[in-house]
Amino acid sequence: NTYHSEADTDFVLPQNKKWAETISKKWKFSKDTKHDIKPVVIGGEDLVDDRDVYTALDKSQLKDGVIAGKIAMATAEDLKKAVKVAKDDVDGWRSKTYEQRHKILKQAAIKVRERRDDLIGVAAAEVGKVFGETDVEVSEAIDFIEFYSYASRYFEKYENLDFKGKGVGVVVPPWNFPVAIPLGGVAATLAAGNTVIIKPATVAALTAYEMCKCFWDAGVSKNALQFAPCPGALAGEHLIGNKDVDFVILTGGEDTAAAMLKTRPDLFLTAETGGKDATIVTNMADKEQAIKNVCHSAFANSGQKCSATSLLVLEEEVYNDKNFRKALVDAAKSMDVGSVWDFKNRIGTLANKVSGNLKHALENLDDNEEWALAPEYVDGNDYMLKPSIKWGVKEDSFIHMNELFGPVLAVIKARDLEHAVNIVNATGYGLTSGIETLDEREVNYWRENIKAGNLYINRGTTGAIVLRQPFGGMGKSAVGAGRKVGIHNYITQFVDFTEKTYPN
Ligand code: ALA
Repeated sequence: NTYHSEADTDFVLPQNKKWAETISKKWKFSKDTKHDIKPVVIGGEDLVDDRDVYTALDKSQLKDGVIAGKIAMATAEDLKKAVKVAKDDVDGWRSKTYEQRHKILKQAAIKVRERRDDLIGVAAAEVGKVFGETDVEVSEAIDFIEFYSYASRYFEKYENLDFKGKGVGVVVPPWNFPVAIPLGGVAATLAAGNTVIIKPATVAALTAYEMCKCFWDAGVSKNALQFAPCPGALAGEHLIGNKDVDFVILTGGEDTAAAMLKTRPDLFLTAETGGKDATIVTNMADKEQAIKNVCHSAFANSGQKCSATSLLVLEEEVYNDKNFRKALVDAAKSMDVGSVWDFKNRIGTLANKVSGNLKHALENLDDNEEWALAPEYVDGNDYMLKPSIKWGVKEDSFIHMNELFGPVLAVIKARDLEHAVNIVNATGYGLTSGIETLDEREVNYWRENIKAGNLYINRGTTGAIVLRQPFGGMGKSAVGAGRKVGIHNYITQFVDFTEKTYPN
């Protein structure tokens, strides 16, 4: 039994372009489309009646008020019931053998592979993600299921140990990777022999629902995997606060992690909590390659990735090179922003209206800062924000130290590589980090001294691959166990080991 990573779609091929058109036909709705309300799924039942309904807008068709879908919201009673059902393990998922679970999870991977089109379509409509960006997520999702399900066999190596799932896991994913991150948490939890409740991000709940269907249709019961979209405060009280929940997998903000631990100081929490990721470009870099990598890392998916390059630290000679600056700005400008249904666009819409740190960074220039490329919205649509580049950013400034989660790149000058590394480490985050240089001595120095979980050399800082680049950070980027995803160790968090006792 071996594990291979799944291939992405090459949208340049004519047959795949045609395929993309069929996705668009199915998922690009019009103003007149009637939408069924997608249910809360708890205790084996699909629940819609008497519940609040969230309406998701297709931000690519905002002017026309097109709706992407509707979804019911769980009540407090629903959440209490969900935990009880998960705890009682009504359908015996936890007592299945490894082989039985593996067989079902294999089927789930097949379903995800078969429904690549629907997952791409729903994420485009609901979250505004362009097809190519969700496509790579679907590959990662398949990898997560196959790898975790395969890796749970790893426990069998320890012949003197018995292992069993911790019990009830709750997955609280973000909206920016609406397929891979929710699915990764669910797959790891199930593979390790636990029942699971997912509380999706509300703005990505329809995509999470399509993802869950792959597991249900593969034979995971609606008692073993329950789907509980609801407001965060309700989840805080009735899921996180419930002592019968044995662990929580969070990918989200530091404040959410802190709030969870305040509610339940004893909680077993594994959390990935964002980053302020940088790419350093030294004078020894292949500059054109560097610009290509940086633009993709900074602006793809509108910079809404915890792994996105948000700081560009340039060695003095590069910083002062007018041609470099111009080429960087031209490259950023060439990334078309607009409707996800128009395939020329490489960047779709923001998932949420600009607020918080991103708003502050867009509306203010600190001491010495100037726009090398000023921010601009497309067609007056608040969700369609073009890439922007802030030049002359000083150390310790707002934009140096704070995560933005948007298409804004901050450029800082460094005297030399040592200074550059210090600038990067000063953020206190430590998720991804990149360097662009062809000098091995520089690579070695950087590797020794940079503080980040995922290091990328002459490659973009986004798009980790299961097993090859287990993904996760240090410092402010990880809370609780905070172990990397996409590696065997990840699922050992959700298992209790006991020593086997032998009769005398
Ligand atoms: N795993 C995602 C990436 O590497 C977050 O970009």
